[in-house]
Amino acid sequence: MKAVIILPTYNEKENVHKLIPLLEEVVFPKVENHEMAILVADDNSPDGTADEIREFMKKWKNIDISQGPKHGLGAAYIRGMSYAIEHMGADVVFEMDADGQHDPMKIPDFMKKIDEGADMVIGTRYSGGGSIPANWPPQRKAFSIVANIFVRTVFTKFSIHDWTGGYRALKKEVFLKEKKELSNFKGYIFQISFLHKAIRDGFTIAEVPFHFSDRKLGSSKIAPVGYIIEVVKFVILTRIKELLLGSFGKYLVVGGFGFLLNAIILKIGVEFFNLTPTVANLAGAAVAIFSNYNFNNIWTFRHHKITSPKQYFIKLLHFYLTSAFGVIFIQTGTIFLGDILFGKEGYFLYFLIGTGLLLIWNFTIYNKFIWKKKSTQ
Ligand code: GDD
Ligand code: MN
Repeated sequence: MKAVIILPTYNEKENVHKLIPLLEEVVFPKVENHEMAILVADDNSPDGTADEIREFMKKWKNIDISQGPKHGLGAAYIRGMSYAIEHMGADVVFEMDADGQHDPMKIPDFMKKIDEGADMVIGTRYSGGGSIPANWPPQRKAFSIVANIFVRTVFTKFSIHDWTGGYRALKKEVFLKEKKELSNFKGYIFQISFLHKAIRDGFTIAEVPFHFSDRKLGSSKIAPVGYIIEVVKFVILTRIKELLLGSFGKYLVVGGFGFLLNAIILKIGVEFFNLTPTVANLAGAAVAIFSNYNFNNIWTFRHHKITSPKQYFIKLLHFYLTSAFGVIFIQTGTIFLGDILFGKEGYFLYFLIGTGLLLIWNFTIYNKFIWKKKSTQ
């Protein structure tokens, strides 16, 4: 296979001066069975990075350069990866900072993971011996660690330890599949977004731990505050969209319909049949729960549909019991607690919070117990 190391550069003249000979003379000879090359994705750096590269191109024939306007790190990678695949015959492309923060001696480990069948290999600073610079101030360390825990938690993908880093190797198929969707991610957010899409599409991911060293020459191009806002926004919106388009969205639609049924039966019972509101509401709730059960079974959780008649009735009973438990203990319990802790005035707010918790509780129980993957039917 041919692997191309892509080095995005913006004013990294001194850094590439050190890194490229190291790659050519020390690292590449250690990679067996694969052809190695370098592509510099330079955004017309005013410091003359490109001139330095052109000098190297005279000495080593496996180096190329792609220049373009400065639209951000993601845009430089998209341009670079497209170039490496179309013009250099790359089967595998690497993402690597040009400033020496990514230990190039790890390249053979990345290639080994590719040989073992991984589609995408992620360099990780947060597991298996990986690390961040010891001399970073505590708040910078904390931010770096917390940001990654945040992304892992919101995406509920704990097996990936480093979402934001930029030391990676991937097969060209991964890039070609995601390229079109990635064109909106021009800055550093490219990294999280690319990895998220690759996982969504079922590509195999492996990790290589490495020590992220401190920058020695030149300066970082990241704008920390803007980046933090972008990460939080992207991760939360993506997750909400995913949930609403997935089973959680269907569950909300089914529940909304159940709520309507409940309300209609309550009104009809009271106004046309002269029932007391309590009795009419109990009838409405019973019908709503029955409707929820069936629509969830044939639509929301249809991949784990309950089909045998015996299981159907047992699970229906469970469904009634868990629904009642949720209303009494979760929803009403929240209102009760709010009332005794903070006073009666906020009762509607406690109701809203309780209902939110109830929705989450029910959804969790349905997923884990009623329509669990290996049901005993
Ligand atoms: N062509 C191009 N265009 N290159 C860029 C641009 C750009 O707009 N912005 C940054 N780069 C290059 C830099 O020249 C460097 O080689 C590499 O991308 C990384 O940029 P740094 O400015 O050194 O980033 P950092 O060290 O602060 O950020 C690190 O953490 C991020 C978040 O975890 C890097 O490891 C990033 O890759 C990582 O995403
Ligand atoms: Mn850097």
